[in-house]
Amino acid sequence: MNEQQLIAFFEDIHRHPELALQETRTSGKVREALAATGVEFLPCSLPTGSIAVIRGAKPGRTIGLRADMDALPITEESGLPYASEVPGVMHACGHDFHTSAVLGAALLLAERRNELAGTVKIVFQPGEETSEGGHIMAREPALQDVEEYYACHTYPAFPAGMLGLKTGPVMAAPDAFTITIRGKGTHAGNPHFGVDSIPAAAALILSAQTLITRGKDAFEPAVLSFAHLQAGNTWNIIPEEVLLEGTLRTLDEDLRKTLRRRLGEMAEMIAKAHNCTSEIRWDIGPGPVMNDPELCRYAQSLAREMGFDVAPQANTMGGEDFSEYLRDVPGLFVRVGTGGGYTNHHPKFTVNEKALWPAARFFAELALRRAGI
Ligand code: NI
Repeated sequence: MNEQQLIAFFEDIHRHPELALQETRTSGKVREALAATGVEFLPCSLPTGSIAVIRGAKPGRTIGLRADMDALPITEESGLPYASEVPGVMHACGHDFHTSAVLGAALLLAERRNELAGTVKIVFQPGEETSEGGHIMAREPALQDVEEYYACHTYPAFPAGMLGLKTGPVMAAPDAFTITIRGKGTHAGNPHFGVDSIPAAAALILSAQTLITRGKDAFEPAVLSFAHLQAGNTWNIIPEEVLLEGTLRTLDEDLRKTLRRRLGEMAEMIAKAHNCTSEIRWDIGPGPVMNDPELCRYAQSLAREMGFDVAPQANTMGGEDFSEYLRDVPGLFVRVGTGGGYTNHHPKFTVNEKALWPAARFFAELALRRAGI
């Protein structure tokens, strides 16, 4: 496969985006492209996931390359000639780029099998946006011998030709919470006949931010956002309860636990102060993505050698289930500059296709060299 063919592959899957765990067509296209090279597939429990393996001519280490494949429930407004043909679904996070770049790397590695010492396992993961796929794929028996993992992500803030590489945490642990504050509904003209849960919810929303400003070291990042509130349905009835949903984002596991505990305590105490009760439910997300220092240094020098501009990527408090693969294995999450001007998850998000082939070449070279170390 050459650059033009890889771009055509990318445009095709961009046109036909599929939501999390529904990536049937995309994974079929990936398998079709790989099958032509005689690449072997390993068992995978997710029907829309694939694990391909390229075994080198000589023994060596086992390297994992991971791409995610799912799109988002967004209506595309990019105006691209190859824009989504599926109403309400769009590759707005560039997972089509990741799939294509890693497929390109796999095809290049298949061509260079004679040079390869060791094994490269290529993971095409479904369901990243819902944080479901990584948890399952990372535990597949076929992947338990992987010694290092690599993944990429599109990065609109950098132009094509630039790679963002940085050690330490680069993506946050995204935990979700649902708090229910319960009082007693009544006529809004006679609040003393009931217990109003709304002032309790309001007090909690304001107080909770002190966990971020007062409750931790200022040099340790954390974000707490209330994103969904629900109470009542009209102006003259005090509702029985208030529902508050939001997210806690952290980069450090200890801080993550502390803030989870403190938010629960605060909700309970504030509810109690207002004669209400509260309940908190956590939906624990994947951990923070931690880039391994040695792998990062290696990749930085290879990137420079291959003519990329290398810059440190900014941390983001977004989440990424690539961290599921890194629980016991070192890895590296690489930001690939794709320009475009709009952020990930925006209806006008686009990538510069010129970034695709160099990214495929970089990951092939990186996997080839790391397998032989
Ligand atoms: Ni993404």
